[in-house]
Order: sequence, then structure tokens, then C-alpha cells
Amino acid sequence: MAGSVSMMLRRLIVLPLMLPWAAMAADGAALYAERCAVCHQAQGQGIEGHAPPLTGMEAWLATGEGRSYIARAVVHGLAGPITVRGQPYSALMLTFRWRLQDEQLVAVLGYVAETLNHPAAGYRPIDLETLRAARAASGRDADTLALRAQLPAR
Ligand code: HEC
Repeated sequence: MAGSVSMMLRRLIVLPLMLPWAAMAADGAALYAERCAVCHQAQGQGIEGHAPPLTGMEAWLATGEGRSYIARAVVHGLAGPITVRGQPYSALMLTFRWRLQDEQLVAVLGYVAETLNHPAAGYRPIDLETLRAARAASGRDADTLALRAQLPAR
């Protein structure tokens, strides 16, 4: 009897501690608003000359290389120069390696892909496997930019 009461109490204490975490991890829209929108803006339109738009990435979302690049840029950060829609950017994309966990990155990148972009039907989301590979890959800007150079211009 005493045992089951203490188990019940333990569950009551642990449950509220776990719920906000689980809810946050799954909420890509909230993570985008908190972590990305200050630079890339609410609709992903960016700030010309300062932070590139995150719209118009459909061609990248359609290929494994494109999805890897997006994951690597977000995991490791990036210091350009890059060009988006004819506009040069040479600012700093911060690293999210220690700021967000893989499940949160999947959620926020899912939001970017599916809400800010219009991927083709049947596209593959940027998944945990892609993020694990991105973490293991080189984080040097030169390597990330070399991968970007192989992708279609956007
Ligand atoms: C402090 C501002 C800032 C924040 C916050 C930020 N970014 Fe960026 N991001 C940038 C800048 C600046 C670049 C371009 C870097 C450059 O000029 O080389 C960039 C580049 C990118 C790129 C690559 C775009 C391309 O065309 O190669 C992606 C993808 C991206 N950001 C996604 C995100 C996501 C997702 C988040 C939130 C989890 C985020 N960023 C948060 C500033 C920011």
C-alpha cells in the first residue's frame, strides 16, 4: 500500500515535468517563432542583405543533397558569402548544435519545409537520420559552402 502510494506520488511529480518538454519538442511553429523568426522573419521572407529568405527552397527539399545542406547549415551554422535571388549575404548563421536537440530540429525544419515552402507531394522530410549525419559531418564553412555550390541556385 505504502509502495503504491509513493509510486503514484512519483508519477504525479514526474508527469508535469515531462509534458512541457514533450509539447515543445513537437511544436515546430513555436520553435520557429522563438529561434528563427528574429532573423528570417515570421513568413520566412528574410531581411534583404542581412538574413536570407527561407522560402523558395523546394528544389533543395526535393533531393537528399539539398536536405543534407539545410540540416548542416542549421546544425553547424554558416558564414557566407552566399547569394539568394541575386542578393548577396555575408553574415553569420549561428550554430544550433547545442541549442536544439535533433527532435526539435526535425520539428522546426518540418515547419520551414511544409509551412514556409510548398514541397512537391511525397517529398521526404528532413528526418532524424539526416540530422545525425549532419552532426557527424564537417562543420567547416568551406565544406558546407562546397555542398551548397552543388545545389541549384535559389
Ligand atoms: C541571428 C540571426 C539568425 C537566426 C536566429 C537564424 N538564422 Fe538562419 N541564417 C542567418 C543568416 C545571416 C544566414 C546566411 C549566412 C550567410 O550570410 O552566410 C542564414 C542562413 C540560413 C540557412 C541557409 C540558407 C541558404 O540559402 O543557404 C538556413 C537553412 C537557415 N539559415 C535556417 C535557419 C533556421 C531553421 C533557424 C532557426 C532554427 C535560423 N536559421 C536562425 C541568420 C539567422
